[in-house]
Amino acid sequence: MATRNAGSNGSGTGRAYAHIVGWGMAVPEAVLTNDDISAFVETDDTWIRERTGIRERRIAGEKESAATLGYNAARHALEVADILPVDLDLIVVATSTPEHVFPGTASLIQDWLGASRAGAFDLSAACSGFVYAIDMAAQSIRSGSMKTALVIGTETMSRVMDWQDRSTCILFGDGAGAVVLRASEQPGGVLASVLRSDGAGCDLLAIPTTSAREPGEHKLNKMYMAGSEVFKFATRVVDEGIRQCLDKAGLELDDISLIVPHQANQRILASVAKKLRLDINRFMSNVERYGNTSAASIPIALCEALEQKRIKPNDHIVLVGFGGGLTWAATVIQWVAPSDAEPARFNRQRRQFLYTFARWRRRITQLQRSLNNLLYRLNPRRRRRKTRSGRENDDLS
Ligand code: UT7
Repeated sequence: MATRNAGSNGSGTGRAYAHIVGWGMAVPEAVLTNDDISAFVETDDTWIRERTGIRERRIAGEKESAATLGYNAARHALEVADILPVDLDLIVVATSTPEHVFPGTASLIQDWLGASRAGAFDLSAACSGFVYAIDMAAQSIRSGSMKTALVIGTETMSRVMDWQDRSTCILFGDGAGAVVLRASEQPGGVLASVLRSDGAGCDLLAIPTTSAREPGEHKLNKMYMAGSEVFKFATRVVDEGIRQCLDKAGLELDDISLIVPHQANQRILASVAKKLRLDINRFMSNVERYGNTSAASIPIALCEALEQKRIKPNDHIVLVGFGGGLTWAATVIQWVAPSDAEPARFNRQRRQFLYTFARWRRRITQLQRSLNNLLYRLNPRRRRRKTRSGRENDDLS
């Protein structure tokens, strides 16, 4: 297939386009229903369904994190793209719930995959993060500086919820989605994007950390949100972002077969559809089953849209995100990949081997480091040197 090997079957212009050639998602098994939530905060299933469209969400288990969910989604995406982890040039992870401030979740996933030739970094743009990351990766591919990139949106929002705050805890859930972008000479792929921010709204939706200047009355490492303000912001910018993005690509709304929006609230989608005068069925929605999974919501919705065969080769689709920052972003994609191509069995075995190799390499590297440290500490010559330099330091003081 043309999109799987850069320049193998293209128009021969030498110009690089960035195509999505692989996709995957991973969600925790544990389901938290509205009724479950109403057992510990004052709310009820009817209120949540009517005000948000959400029925249930997934909650990460103790051993799951943004890194493990992102890794599993990435493995599915590599499978669909039928490429090896060593073919990746770049891994970008959009997340607001990393395990560490650093190292980046992208570096953990890079190591677990055995993507030994890839650069890796995290991108923080809250619920718009996945669209920002797609644009960054596509720009790098279009500029010719790289051929293959993995973009992941992954979150464990349940870990930053204040489970006593009924206005936020009913909304969020955990999960991950990933796509592989690959260079091709075949026109299409990521055509144009619009990235925007309005930091004046930084106090409307945030997770203050230990380095915050003024956490105020808010809890550290817990999310707070001025829900109705964010709602108004979303319904103001999403349709505008979509129109600006289409303008940039030289397309009309009628050219778009599906909009895959950030899944925050069904009422937001209904309002945007009304403003754009589009049938609500032109919007992918799965908020009912997963709630708001922040940076993961768009790739999860994209995977399910493909599974439901709502995207076909040559379709134009729009991905649109909005959230903390405040940020918003839209990107328009001309889809080329068939949704049901079978990956080669030979590559599947090689991928499996590389994942196992990556696990052993990590263990051996860590063991080697511990051994080196031990030998260094036991080295008598080093001890003598240390005693001497201690004496020299005493002389200086
Ligand atoms: O991913 C980032 C982007 N995030 C979003 O897009 C979220 C946008 N915001 C929203 O989705 C909505 O604003 C919420 C779902 C968060 C809230 O819905 P709302 O219709 O804006 O409700 P509200 O905050 O204006 O509150 C209305 C009433 C209040 O009661 P009073 O003051 O009118 O008596 C709330 O206390 O609803 C009450 N309320 C609840 N009642 C039952 C708020 N949360 C709940 C609840 N259960 N869970």
